[in-house]
Amino acid sequence: MKVAGKDYLTVRFDEGVVYLIDQNRLPFAFAIRECKQCEDSCAAIRDMTVRGAGAIGAAAGFAMAQAFVADDDPVAAAERIRATRPTARDLFYAVECVFSAGQVSVQAAVDEAQRLARANTEAARGIGIFGEPLISDGARVLTHCNAGWLGFVDYGSALSPVYMAHRGGKQVFVYADETRPRSQGARLTAWELANEGIEHTIVPDNAGAYLMSKGLIDLVIVGADRIAANGDVANKIGTFEKAILARHFGIPFFVAAPRSTFDPETPTGADIIIEERSADEVHYQTGPDQDGRIQTIRVTNPGSDAFNPAFDVTPAEFITGIITEKGIIKPDNHAIAAVLR
Ligand code: MRU
Repeated sequence: MKVAGKDYLTVRFDEGVVYLIDQNRLPFAFAIRECKQCEDSCAAIRDMTVRGAGAIGAAAGFAMAQAFVADDDPVAAAERIRATRPTARDLFYAVECVFSAGQVSVQAAVDEAQRLARANTEAARGIGIFGEPLISDGARVLTHCNAGWLGFVDYGSALSPVYMAHRGGKQVFVYADETRPRSQGARLTAWELANEGIEHTIVPDNAGAYLMSKGLIDLVIVGADRIAANGDVANKIGTFEKAILARHFGIPFFVAAPRSTFDPETPTGADIIIEERSADEVHYQTGPDQDGRIQTIRVTNPGSDAFNPAFDVTPAEFITGIITEKGIIKPDNHAIAAVLR
């Protein structure tokens, strides 16, 4: 995607260095972070410089390749990468693929990591192609978190159909959930949509029922971090609430994800490990003051505790369909096994 007329990828690997768009600084500054070692890449995944299921998958693959290039112990490196964030399947998938390739040669590991990143982009583009017909001219789409190109190497998952529809001349309006506590919707999705010239507005996380009851939402599209064999979907905390609301109001609820996000070895959503992040993400908010200096302020009652689960699981029964790079499928064991074949 282009930023100020120049092409960028969210994650890139060149001459042993991983280059990441620094998502912690967006939307207030656009900067690239360089990770020279596997450890640097792990730190960037942990602190969410790079985030989003597809993007951390690509970054994890590159981190694994960096370990082979540096002749680190690959088993220990793989463990460290896996320990960065537990929920997104793409990260584990990439580590597994690059680790296996590295048994052949260092070059094979590097090639495999690059192949995965290209596949990530291609899958996201395919999701856009299959999802685009779901968006009619004038559609109003609700999305949660950021499943745009910042969450992938390029294109995105939930936003890829939106981008395709917009480029094809359709009018699309996006309601971007704020997505507290880290505000990926308010900060990143809004930035991406503005960058693409797509009409949108940021809404509080608790506005869903109001918007739907007023007939303002035509469909919901969200991303996924891990999809169990039975079609249950782990995605950013708050997704399940939107799915319940969509069911109540009779609004289609689609999940967009590449096949690398499906985890056939996890039977149901109950088996998915949900990341719990620091309470400080709930207690503190960061942004520029009136002079443009980044400040961090407390927004909760001092002394109170906070609980910060990063994901929830939407049961398959609430999902209208899953948009993949191979087509739109039903969220059930049979359809998932078929699309993974
Ligand atoms: O910002 P994260 O990495 O904590 O959130 C993960 C996600 O990006 C979302 O859940 C998203 O919808 C998955 S697809 C990019």
